[in-house]
Amino acid sequence: MSLERATDLLACPVCQGRLALYGKVICCTEGHSYDVAKQGYVNLLGASEPGNADTSEMLDARARVHAAGVFNQVTEAIATSCGGRQRVLEAGAGTGHYLASALGTDPQALGVAIDVSKASAKHCVRTDERIAAIVADVWQPLPLRDRSLDAVLAVFAPRNLPEFARVLHSDGRFIAVTPRSGHLVGLRDAYGLLDIPSAKATQLAAAAAEFFDLIDTRVIKYRVPVDEQLATDLIAMGPNAFHQQPKQVTASVISIDVTVQSFRPIRD
Ligand SMILES: C[S@@+](CC[C@H](N)C(=O)[O-])C[C@H]1O[C@@H](n2cnc3c(N)ncnc32)[C@H](O)[C@@H]1O
Ligand SMILES: [Zn+2]
Repeated sequence: MSLERATDLLACPVCQGRLALYGKVICCTEGHSYDVAKQGYVNLLGASEPGNADTSEMLDARARVHAAGVFNQVTEAIATSCGGRQRVLEAGAGTGHYLASALGTDPQALGVAIDVSKASAKHCVRTDERIAAIVADVWQPLPLRDRSLDAVLAVFAPRNLPEFARVLHSDGRFIAVTPRSGHLVGLRDAYGLLDIPSAKATQLAAAAAEFFDLIDTRVIKYRVPVDEQLATDLIAMGPNAFHQQPKQVTASVISIDVTVQSFRPIRD
Protein backbone atom coordinates (compact mmCIF):
# COMPACT_ATOMS: atom_id res chain seq x y z
CA MET A 1 0.00 0.00 0.00
CA SER A 2 1.12 3.57 -0.68
CA LEU A 3 1.07 4.53 2.99
CA GLU A 4 3.87 2.02 3.54
CA ARG A 5 5.97 3.64 0.80
CA ALA A 6 5.18 7.12 2.12
CA THR A 7 6.04 6.41 5.77
CA ASP A 8 9.69 7.33 5.16
CA LEU A 9 8.58 10.84 4.18
CA LEU A 10 6.41 11.36 7.25
CA ALA A 11 7.19 13.13 10.53
CA CYS A 12 5.33 12.66 13.81
CA PRO A 13 2.90 15.57 14.27
CA VAL A 14 3.70 15.68 18.03
CA CYS A 15 7.52 15.32 18.20
CA GLN A 16 8.50 15.64 14.49
CA GLY A 17 10.41 12.33 14.76
CA ARG A 18 10.52 9.68 12.05
CA LEU A 19 7.51 7.41 11.70
CA ALA A 20 7.38 3.70 10.91
CA LEU A 21 4.47 1.46 9.98
CA TYR A 22 3.88 -1.67 12.10
CA GLY A 23 0.91 -3.57 10.71
CA LYS A 24 -2.03 -1.20 11.08
CA VAL A 25 -0.29 1.36 13.31
CA ILE A 26 2.16 4.15 12.51
CA CYS A 27 4.51 5.00 15.41
CA CYS A 28 7.46 7.26 16.21
CA THR A 29 10.35 6.32 18.54
CA GLU A 30 8.82 8.48 21.31
CA GLY A 31 5.77 6.21 21.37
CA HIS A 32 3.21 8.45 19.64
CA SER A 33 1.03 6.15 17.57
CA TYR A 34 -1.67 6.56 14.94
CA ASP A 35 -4.07 3.89 13.71
CA VAL A 36 -4.35 3.28 9.98
CA ALA A 37 -8.05 3.38 9.03
CA LYS A 38 -9.50 0.30 7.38
CA GLN A 39 -9.72 2.27 4.10
CA GLY A 40 -5.91 2.71 4.22
CA TYR A 41 -5.48 6.36 5.23
CA VAL A 42 -4.04 7.76 8.48
CA ASN A 43 -5.50 10.57 10.55
CA LEU A 44 -2.74 12.82 11.96
CA LEU A 45 -5.05 15.78 12.63
CA GLY A 46 -5.15 15.42 16.42
CA ALA A 47 -8.41 17.40 16.52
CA SER A 48 -11.94 17.10 15.20
CA GLU A 49 -12.69 17.95 11.59
CA PRO A 50 -13.42 21.68 11.04
CA GLY A 51 -16.68 22.89 9.49
CA ASN A 52 -15.12 23.82 6.14
CA ALA A 53 -13.83 20.29 5.35
CA ASP A 54 -15.25 18.96 2.08
CA THR A 55 -18.13 16.52 2.56
CA SER A 56 -18.53 13.25 0.62
CA GLU A 57 -21.39 14.86 -1.37
CA MET A 58 -19.10 17.73 -2.42
CA LEU A 59 -16.35 15.27 -3.36
CA ASP A 60 -18.74 13.14 -5.44
CA ALA A 61 -19.91 16.28 -7.29
CA ARG A 62 -16.27 17.31 -7.87
CA ALA A 63 -15.40 13.82 -9.16
CA ARG A 64 -18.26 13.94 -11.69
CA VAL A 65 -17.06 17.37 -12.90
CA HIS A 66 -13.51 16.06 -13.31
CA ALA A 67 -14.74 12.87 -15.05
CA ALA A 68 -16.66 15.03 -17.55
CA GLY A 69 -13.39 16.79 -18.47
CA VAL A 70 -14.47 20.31 -17.48
CA PHE A 71 -11.02 21.02 -15.95
CA ASN A 72 -8.94 18.98 -18.42
CA GLN A 73 -6.78 21.87 -19.61
CA VAL A 74 -6.03 22.85 -16.01
CA THR A 75 -5.18 19.23 -15.18
CA GLU A 76 -2.78 19.05 -18.14
CA ALA A 77 -1.09 22.35 -17.23
CA ILE A 78 -0.46 21.11 -13.67
CA ALA A 79 0.99 17.80 -14.91
CA THR A 80 3.24 19.66 -17.36
CA SER A 81 4.50 22.00 -14.61
CA CYS A 82 5.16 18.96 -12.40
CA GLY A 83 7.39 17.57 -15.15
CA GLY A 84 7.43 13.91 -14.08
CA ARG A 85 8.61 14.64 -10.52
CA GLN A 86 8.19 11.45 -8.48
CA ARG A 87 7.25 12.39 -4.91
CA VAL A 88 4.35 14.81 -5.01
CA LEU A 89 2.22 16.30 -2.21
CA GLU A 90 -1.21 17.77 -2.90
CA ALA A 91 -2.31 20.06 -0.07
CA GLY A 92 -6.12 20.30 0.19
CA ALA A 93 -6.29 17.35 -2.19
CA GLY A 94 -10.07 16.89 -2.42
CA THR A 95 -10.56 13.86 -4.67
CA GLY A 96 -6.84 13.57 -5.54
CA HIS A 97 -7.66 14.10 -9.22
CA TYR A 98 -4.84 16.60 -9.92
CA LEU A 99 -2.37 14.59 -7.84
CA ALA A 100 -3.06 11.36 -9.76
CA SER A 101 -2.60 13.14 -13.07
CA ALA A 102 0.63 14.83 -11.90
CA LEU A 103 2.06 11.36 -11.12
CA GLY A 104 1.67 10.47 -14.81
CA THR A 105 2.13 6.84 -15.77
CA ASP A 106 5.21 6.15 -13.61
CA PRO A 107 4.42 3.15 -11.35
CA GLN A 108 7.23 4.25 -8.96
CA ALA A 109 5.77 7.74 -8.48
CA LEU A 110 4.32 8.43 -5.03
CA GLY A 111 1.57 10.87 -4.16
CA VAL A 112 0.81 12.21 -0.69
CA ALA A 113 -2.67 13.68 -0.34
CA ILE A 114 -3.24 15.94 2.67
CA ASP A 115 -6.71 17.19 3.46
CA VAL A 116 -8.51 18.11 6.63
CA SER A 117 -11.51 16.05 5.46
CA LYS A 118 -11.75 12.32 6.23
CA ALA A 119 -14.11 11.95 3.27
CA SER A 120 -11.32 13.33 1.07
CA ALA A 121 -8.79 10.81 2.45
CA LYS A 122 -11.23 7.96 1.72
CA HIS A 123 -11.76 9.30 -1.79
CA CYS A 124 -8.04 9.82 -2.52
CA VAL A 125 -7.04 6.23 -1.69
CA ARG A 126 -9.61 5.07 -4.26
CA THR A 127 -8.48 7.57 -6.94
CA ASP A 128 -5.00 6.09 -7.46
CA GLU A 129 -3.16 3.28 -5.69
CA ARG A 130 0.03 5.39 -5.74
CA ILE A 131 -1.60 7.94 -3.38
CA ALA A 132 -1.07 7.83 0.40
CA ALA A 133 -3.82 9.84 2.10
CA ILE A 134 -3.32 11.74 5.35
CA VAL A 135 -5.87 13.74 7.30
CA ALA A 136 -4.04 16.86 8.51
CA ASP A 137 -4.43 20.63 8.67
CA VAL A 138 -2.38 22.54 6.08
CA TRP A 139 -2.17 25.49 8.53
CA GLN A 140 -0.31 23.38 11.10
CA PRO A 141 3.28 22.14 10.71
CA LEU A 142 2.98 19.49 7.98
CA PRO A 143 3.61 15.90 9.16
CA LEU A 144 6.39 15.56 6.59
CA ARG A 145 10.19 15.52 6.85
CA ASP A 146 12.36 18.41 5.63
CA ARG A 147 13.16 18.33 1.89
CA SER A 148 11.29 15.04 1.41
CA LEU A 149 9.28 16.00 -1.69
CA ASP A 150 9.84 16.88 -5.35
CA ALA A 151 6.65 18.88 -5.85
CA VAL A 152 3.80 20.38 -3.84
CA LEU A 153 0.45 21.19 -5.45
CA ALA A 154 -2.16 23.58 -4.05
CA VAL A 155 -5.14 23.70 -6.40
CA PHE A 156 -7.93 26.01 -5.18
CA ALA A 157 -6.66 25.11 -1.71
CA PRO A 158 -4.97 26.70 1.34
CA ARG A 159 -1.23 27.44 1.04
CA ASN A 160 1.18 27.25 3.98
CA LEU A 161 4.15 28.81 2.20
CA PRO A 162 6.92 28.34 4.82
CA GLU A 163 5.89 24.73 5.32
CA PHE A 164 5.72 24.04 1.56
CA ALA A 165 9.25 25.47 1.20
CA ARG A 166 10.49 23.34 4.13
CA VAL A 167 9.24 20.02 2.73
CA LEU A 168 10.53 20.59 -0.82
CA HIS A 169 14.03 19.66 -1.86
CA SER A 170 16.20 22.34 -3.47
CA ASP A 171 15.08 21.77 -7.06
CA GLY A 172 11.49 20.99 -6.08
CA ARG A 173 8.46 22.87 -7.38
CA PHE A 174 5.47 24.44 -5.66
CA ILE A 175 2.61 24.60 -8.16
CA ALA A 176 -0.34 26.79 -7.27
CA VAL A 177 -3.63 27.17 -9.10
CA THR A 178 -5.73 30.21 -8.24
CA PRO A 179 -8.97 31.41 -9.85
CA ARG A 180 -9.06 34.64 -11.85
CA SER A 181 -12.01 37.03 -11.83
CA GLY A 182 -13.56 35.36 -14.91
CA HIS A 183 -13.57 31.88 -13.34
CA LEU A 184 -17.05 30.26 -13.47
CA VAL A 185 -18.36 33.77 -14.08
CA GLY A 186 -21.60 32.68 -15.81
CA LEU A 187 -22.55 30.43 -12.90
CA ARG A 188 -21.54 32.99 -10.30
CA ASP A 189 -23.65 35.72 -11.90
CA ALA A 190 -26.68 33.50 -12.49
CA TYR A 191 -26.77 31.89 -9.05
CA GLY A 192 -25.16 34.51 -6.82
CA LEU A 193 -22.26 32.25 -5.86
CA LEU A 194 -19.47 33.44 -3.60
CA ASP A 195 -17.26 36.03 -5.28
CA ILE A 196 -13.58 35.52 -6.11
CA PRO A 197 -11.24 38.17 -4.69
CA SER A 198 -9.33 39.74 -7.60
CA ALA A 199 -5.56 39.47 -8.21
CA LYS A 200 -5.14 36.23 -6.23
CA ALA A 201 -2.08 35.20 -8.28
CA THR A 202 -0.40 38.59 -7.79
CA GLN A 203 -1.03 38.42 -4.05
CA LEU A 204 0.34 34.88 -3.92
CA ALA A 205 3.50 35.85 -5.83
CA ALA A 206 4.09 38.70 -3.36
CA ALA A 207 3.50 36.50 -0.29
CA ALA A 208 5.64 33.67 -1.71
CA ALA A 209 8.65 35.90 -2.53
CA GLU A 210 10.10 35.38 0.97
CA PHE A 211 10.36 31.61 0.38
CA PHE A 212 10.21 31.00 -3.39
CA ASP A 213 11.37 32.26 -6.78
CA LEU A 214 8.49 32.45 -9.23
CA ILE A 215 9.68 30.66 -12.36
CA ASP A 216 6.57 30.28 -14.51
CA THR A 217 3.08 31.78 -14.78
CA ARG A 218 0.41 30.51 -17.16
CA VAL A 219 -3.13 31.71 -17.59
CA ILE A 220 -5.53 28.93 -18.63
CA LYS A 221 -8.72 30.34 -20.03
CA TYR A 222 -11.44 28.56 -22.01
CA ARG A 223 -15.19 28.03 -22.21
CA VAL A 224 -17.03 24.73 -21.76
CA PRO A 225 -20.68 23.86 -22.32
CA VAL A 226 -22.24 22.17 -19.28
CA ASP A 227 -25.62 20.48 -18.99
CA GLU A 228 -27.95 20.95 -16.02
CA GLN A 229 -26.42 18.09 -14.02
CA LEU A 230 -22.85 19.36 -14.49
CA ALA A 231 -23.84 22.94 -13.68
CA THR A 232 -25.50 21.65 -10.49
CA ASP A 233 -22.35 19.67 -9.63
CA LEU A 234 -20.11 22.71 -10.25
CA ILE A 235 -22.14 24.62 -7.67
CA ALA A 236 -22.34 21.68 -5.25
CA MET A 237 -18.60 20.89 -5.30
CA GLY A 238 -17.45 24.24 -3.90
CA PRO A 239 -17.88 26.36 -0.79
CA ASN A 240 -21.35 27.35 -2.01
CA ALA A 241 -22.43 23.86 -0.91
CA PHE A 242 -22.23 25.18 2.68
CA HIS A 243 -24.69 27.96 1.78
CA GLN A 244 -28.10 27.82 0.12
CA GLN A 245 -28.15 25.87 -3.17
CA PRO A 246 -30.24 27.19 -6.11
CA LYS A 247 -33.36 25.06 -6.79
CA GLN A 248 -33.38 25.35 -10.58
CA VAL A 249 -30.11 25.22 -12.55
CA THR A 250 -30.00 25.42 -16.35
CA ALA A 251 -27.47 24.27 -18.95
CA SER A 252 -25.02 26.98 -20.02
CA VAL A 253 -21.52 27.69 -21.29
CA ILE A 254 -19.13 28.38 -18.42
CA SER A 255 -15.70 30.02 -18.28
CA ILE A 256 -12.65 28.40 -16.79
CA ASP A 257 -10.15 31.15 -15.98
CA VAL A 258 -7.24 30.33 -13.69
CA THR A 259 -3.55 31.04 -13.13
CA VAL A 260 -1.05 28.20 -12.78
CA GLN A 261 2.15 29.41 -11.07
CA SER A 262 5.31 27.39 -10.59
CA PHE A 263 7.77 28.31 -7.81
CA ARG A 264 11.21 26.99 -6.76
CA PRO A 265 12.27 27.23 -3.09
CA ILE A 266 14.94 29.81 -2.18
CA ARG A 267 17.81 28.18 -0.31
CA ASP A 268 20.42 30.04 1.75
C1 LIG B 1 -11.88 23.81 -3.19
S1 LIG B 1 -11.35 22.22 -2.60
C2 LIG B 1 -10.06 21.80 -3.78
C3 LIG B 1 -9.80 20.31 -3.86
C4 LIG B 1 -8.81 19.88 -4.96
N1 LIG B 1 -7.52 20.51 -4.82
C5 LIG B 1 -9.39 20.20 -6.31
O1 LIG B 1 -9.10 21.27 -6.85
O2 LIG B 1 -10.19 19.40 -6.83
C6 LIG B 1 -10.40 22.66 -1.15
C7 LIG B 1 -9.97 21.45 -0.32
O3 LIG B 1 -9.16 21.92 0.76
C8 LIG B 1 -9.53 21.23 1.95
N2 LIG B 1 -9.13 22.08 3.08
C9 LIG B 1 -9.71 23.23 3.50
N3 LIG B 1 -9.03 23.74 4.55
C10 LIG B 1 -7.99 22.89 4.79
C11 LIG B 1 -6.94 22.85 5.74
N4 LIG B 1 -6.79 23.82 6.66
N5 LIG B 1 -6.06 21.83 5.70
C12 LIG B 1 -6.19 20.84 4.77
N6 LIG B 1 -7.17 20.82 3.85
C13 LIG B 1 -8.06 21.82 3.84
C14 LIG B 1 -11.03 20.98 1.82
O4 LIG B 1 -11.46 19.89 2.63
C15 LIG B 1 -11.13 20.69 0.32
O5 LIG B 1 -10.98 19.31 0.04
ZN1 LIG C 1 6.28 11.43 18.12
